[in-house]
Amino acid sequence: MPLSAVAYSLPSLSIQAIDLADQFNVPCVDLSSLCSSKQKDIDNYLSEQLAMDQPVVLLLGKKGLSLRVIQLARGAIFADFYGPSVSYRRTKGGGRRQMLAKAVGLRKGACPTVIDCTAGLGRDAFVLASLGCRVVMLERVAVVHALLNDGLLQARMRSCSELNDILDRMELISSDAHNYLKVNEVSSNVVYLDPMFPEQNRGAKVKKEMQILHNFIGMDDDSDALLDLALSVAEQRVVVKRSRIAPYLSNTKPDYSVEGKSTRFDIYLA
Ligand SMILES: C[S@@+](CC[C@H](N)C(=O)[O-])C[C@H]1O[C@@H](n2cnc3c(N)ncnc32)[C@H](O)[C@@H]1O
Repeated sequence: MPLSAVAYSLPSLSIQAIDLADQFNVPCVDLSSLCSSKQKDIDNYLSEQLAMDQPVVLLLGKKGLSLRVIQLARGAIFADFYGPSVSYRRTKGGGRRQMLAKAVGLRKGACPTVIDCTAGLGRDAFVLASLGCRVVMLERVAVVHALLNDGLLQARMRSCSELNDILDRMELISSDAHNYLKVNEVSSNVVYLDPMFPEQNRGAKVKKEMQILHNFIGMDDDSDALLDLALSVAEQRVVVKRSRIAPYLSNTKPDYSVEGKSTRFDIYLA
């Protein structure tokens, strides 16, 4: 599922959109004359301009950057760090009692540093940063990196000081984790891995938009090799997020697991 185009909905965004289109080597479509049109008409216009039934388009609008499969899904995929559901989870989401917090070893007085080797849209990294961890996020898919980078920028532009403190603890690096961990002399208390796994695609609960993201990225078939590398870097533990019924990463039994209804965190002590 390759990217088909970049489109923008405001004339003031044209330079940024053209830069992105150049970066991804795809056409750039101006939608600014259609700003009061219905979604269906905009979709039809994009399909016609790109001569494709369901083009995959990066859309640049006043709320930031998002990814959509035109005609297929209404919802757009974007990295959100300030919307109502994210804010609710941040303020009422269970704090250090959350499975993720327990898995990385967050306790009173212990706030580990984390390298998140599979940043995606940064949701797990944001939870950890909200709880006080410093998180280095690695993302290798350029479109996902662009979505995440824009999500962080949008949050900065709209944020309050509390949110700024959280964003200050998040650093995004465009890199394949294999290279980053090998080449740089990095160390971190925790290394976190949440690679795409086929099971993630199946459950009825996976929203259509997320299925699209999974199809766009594909499976992270090389993730088994990350485990040894992660263990060579982690000072305290490696945490691997899996679906509850998925086999262990690299067929390696963890020291213990933290299990929920649909998700499991496997903990490998360093
Ligand atoms: C399941 S998603 C992660 C979701 C993320 N935990 C979140 O909370 O949003 C997996 C992501 O890791 C990225 N990824 C997988 N292997 C990687 C690697 N070796 N280096 C960098 N990024 C990787 C994929 O491109 C994808 O965006």
